[in-house]
Amino acid sequence: MSNPKGLEGIVATESSISSIIDDKLTYVGYDIDDLAENSSFEEIIYLLWNQKLPTKSELDSFKQELADNMNVPQEIIDHLKSYDLKTVHPMAAVRTAVSMLGLYDEEADVMEEDANRRKALRLQAKIPTIVTAFARIRKGEEPVSPKNDLGFAANFLYMLKGKDPVDIEVEAFNKALVLHADHELNASTFTARVCVATLSDVYSGVTAAIGALKGPLHGGANERVMKMLTEIGDEDQAIDYIKEKLANKEKIMGMGHRVYQNGDPRAKHLREMSKQLTEITGESKWYNMSVKIEDYITSEKGLPANVDFYSASVYHSLGIDHDLFTPIFAVSRVSGWLAHILEQFANNRLIRPRAEYVGPSKQAYTPINER
Ligand SMILES: CC(C)(COP(=O)(O)OP(=O)(O)OC[C@H]1O[C@@H](n2cnc3c(N)ncnc32)[C@H](O)[C@@H]1OP(=O)(O)O)[C@@H](O)C(=O)NCCC(=O)NCCS
Repeated sequence: MSNPKGLEGIVATESSISSIIDDKLTYVGYDIDDLAENSSFEEIIYLLWNQKLPTKSELDSFKQELADNMNVPQEIIDHLKSYDLKTVHPMAAVRTAVSMLGLYDEEADVMEEDANRRKALRLQAKIPTIVTAFARIRKGEEPVSPKNDLGFAANFLYMLKGKDPVDIEVEAFNKALVLHADHELNASTFTARVCVATLSDVYSGVTAAIGALKGPLHGGANERVMKMLTEIGDEDQAIDYIKEKLANKEKIMGMGHRVYQNGDPRAKHLREMSKQLTEITGESKWYNMSVKIEDYITSEKGLPANVDFYSASVYHSLGIDHDLFTPIFAVSRVSGWLAHILEQFANNRLIRPRAEYVGPSKQAYTPINER
């Protein structure tokens, strides 16, 4: 039985949602570079869920449906207020709140395709409201209700800060959402598919996926990149800091990728945004430091920067708390999880691989009082 560690290189399913071929990422066959430059995040959600780009009127009504479904049950807001806010990581709060959403959805266990699509829309619409409500509550501020006339990216920033965002902020945030939306069979997407392949419900699938995204080897890397940059503090210290980490056999967060050999195609867009935004905020040091680290790790270890590396300084420049970076990843990636969940349901078979047993064998059972 072949057993590549971490299932590396194993093709576990067929999918028509996104592909990574020769270091090129596409959503439904559209190059990520074109989508990042031209699309709204709502257009991407529509594309992933329908495998076609929307017409203008389809997009308008889809945007409206999303905006109409953003409010979350008051019970969930009250629950968020009940946490010990100093110790709870926002990813744990979001994971719990998404699971709770299922309790307030009468269709939670209705498994018809139309019902699953309606749940997908509700979930996608409500996650930004949950993340921003938690972010405000823990600062002692009241959650801000979504504005019906704002797009998805703008609404997130509005609900987070309580004031209308400026165009460059919306543009950068929208692009970040587009770039994080889907990524073939990454760990959290695989988790979602494994979960719903048992014919469990949409909310369970997304809750499981959030749990997988939380880890530092997956979505949790972006927060740790900013922690690293803050620890380094000064551009001139960057290389010495990295050398020490490598000497201690520590991984550098935001660098390396299981699938890409010559670079993550999303990173260049985020690098450019990081450059622009850090110039505007007068904190180019974060960008400069990141470039130094990237150049060093690439030349010393042959590892490219991944999507998390420059998203850290982008979100920081947008004035977002560092521990919200991974929940923001979830706000975007839920679109991909839901697309994969719908695809899994459409052609389902239980996902149940085998393990190669390497433990002891032929053991003689000893009664408990003789051990
Ligand atoms: C993304 C990641 C998990 C993929 O890793 P993988 O395919 O499982 O590869 P491994 O972790 O087995 O690493 C292979 C080798 O490269 C090294 N390596 C991989 N990523 C590294 C990093 N970020 N910094 C330093 N060394 C790294 C490993 O130490 C290992 O070296 P060794 O063979 O001498 O032990 C890995 O690159 C990583 O941990 N990166 C940092 C976390 C991160 O940014 N995650 C977000 C991914 S989008």
